[in-house]
Amino acid sequence: MLLTRSFAEKALEDAHHANPGPWADHSRYVAMACENIAKYCPHLDNDDAYIYGILHDIGRHAGVTSERHLIDGYRYCMERGWEKAAQICISHAFMVKDIASSIGVFDMPPEDKAFMDRFVKDAVYDDYDRLVQLCDALALPNGFCLLEKRFVDVALRYGTHPSTVERWEAVLNIKQHFERIIGCSIYDLLPGVVENSFR
Ligand SMILES: [Fe+2]
Repeated sequence: MLLTRSFAEKALEDAHHANPGPWADHSRYVAMACENIAKYCPHLDNDDAYIYGILHDIGRHAGVTSERHLIDGYRYCMERGWEKAAQICISHAFMVKDIASSIGVFDMPPEDKAFMDRFVKDAVYDDYDRLVQLCDALALPNGFCLLEKRFVDVALRYGTHPSTVERWEAVLNIKQHFERIIGCSIYDLLPGVVENSFR
């Protein structure tokens, strides 16, 4: 099945219908951020970046879950032959390439957890994986937000984890990586980020 923008958008709509929640609007903002940044990266394709953003949380179609949404999304995309999107369904949560760095719950059978463990260690990340990792951290269901504010919000809600600072550093390094390529602040490409971050 050829993966187009409209196909990915329809998949998100159907998945949102199956499991309504703010996650779908979050996914749309992730996609918008991915596309806006990819436009200034000569080695990235805008449409691919947008599509990977739209689909990164598609595993939530299967219900309200924690880390299970990662493998559910992987399977959803693999069944349709969307291999890179499938990888990003898992990789977006692991900017630190170790599933023990997760703050979530592994609500899945042990063999699925073992699969994710190996998958993350073996995966070779490219700038699409990194772009979704970055944009996932700055998109809320109602717009874009300063990364550091998101970091603190999440820490206040869920507490911190031994890998929290390492994850923050990884995301900030990805931000720097893209800023070197685009030649400006990523926030210049995210409409409404200032209003959203200060409200
Ligand atoms: Fe997400």
